[in-house]
Amino acid sequence: ITPGCPGFYAPEHEAAWKRIVDFVHAETPAKMCAQIGHSGPKGSTQLGWEEMDAPLTSGNWSLMAASDVAWSESNQVPKPMTRADMDQVTAQFVASAEMAERAGFDMLELHCAHGYLLSSFITPLTNTRTDEYGGSLENRMRYPLEVFHAVRAVWPDAKPISVRISANDWVGDDGVTPEEAVEIARMLQDAGVDICDVSAGQTSKRAEPVYGRMFQTPFSDRIRNETGMATMAVGNIYEPDHVNSILMAGRADLVCLARPHLANPYWTLHAAAALGDAETKWPNPYGPGADQMRRLAERGEGVSMRV
Ligand SMILES: Cc1cc2nc3c(=O)[nH]c(=O)nc-3n(C[C@H](O)[C@H](O)[C@H](O)COP(=O)(O)O)c2cc1C
Repeated sequence: ITPGCPGFYAPEHEAAWKRIVDFVHAETPAKMCAQIGHSGPKGSTQLGWEEMDAPLTSGNWSLMAASDVAWSESNQVPKPMTRADMDQVTAQFVASAEMAERAGFDMLELHCAHGYLLSSFITPLTNTRTDEYGGSLENRMRYPLEVFHAVRAVWPDAKPISVRISANDWVGDDGVTPEEAVEIARMLQDAGVDICDVSAGQTSKRAEPVYGRMFQTPFSDRIRNETGMATMAVGNIYEPDHVNSILMAGRADLVCLARPHLANPYWTLHAAAALGDAETKWPNPYGPGADQMRRLAERGEGVSMRV
């Protein structure tokens, strides 16, 4: 997406990922999931803390997408992908999956959300194709599913694959609706995707999202309970009680927290301590910190998290 993004397309990426994954596996029982994606119409943009989604001030590279629909008036108009482009990008996804496997990742996620390349095929807002890759939902899903099948073929059978989708374009009936997202999930389920990571939005500048606590969880809830497919909920979930309520109410099978972990990488360990869970494994060098936090938590002290 940006010149600062981590990648899965060069030998040095593989070596760097392997070092990280090996370290995590050596020091903790945590599992690592690699998300692979292609930036499509939102590529060649500035770092997130510069001007988000804005083109680079110099050195831009050319873009490809489902159709010649630019992200905004100031972004490049992408080239609609030809069959040869699709084959090339599919091969790149496969090479990335193989790299993730060699680096030791436990799970793979295919990024089909947020307006990037595969998402640009799924949403009708950015897919105006008239061939078998545009029009009906079946056609719009064709290329993302081709990529999934190609990746699944090289990813070890014993390791799961998730697919992240935008379950709502937030533009009403002109875009993907939560109802259509159920159909998308059904297609993923039929294709053999293990779990659907249910995000939303970031597919169009026209979007009018309705934010709030756990605001995307209803889409996960709906997909899980209408299709029986396993789901992940994400989006403004920030208290342990949110997480446990989502799980216990059967609204998702896994819960993802992004920004809370940027603010506090130990968020999950702190939540476990606050809830009185003495089993969660902390990395050995941090054990004394865990002991103290657990003792304090029993007295209702020391953990700032509300549970
Ligand atoms: C700095 C940053 C980087 C992100 N990068 C990705 C990404 O690479 N892929 C993705 O699917 N979502 C990405 N997201 C979105 C998060 O995965 C998540 O969906 C979003 O932040 C909402 O969840 P939260 O409220 O727990 O932060 C990113 C978010 C942030 C803040």
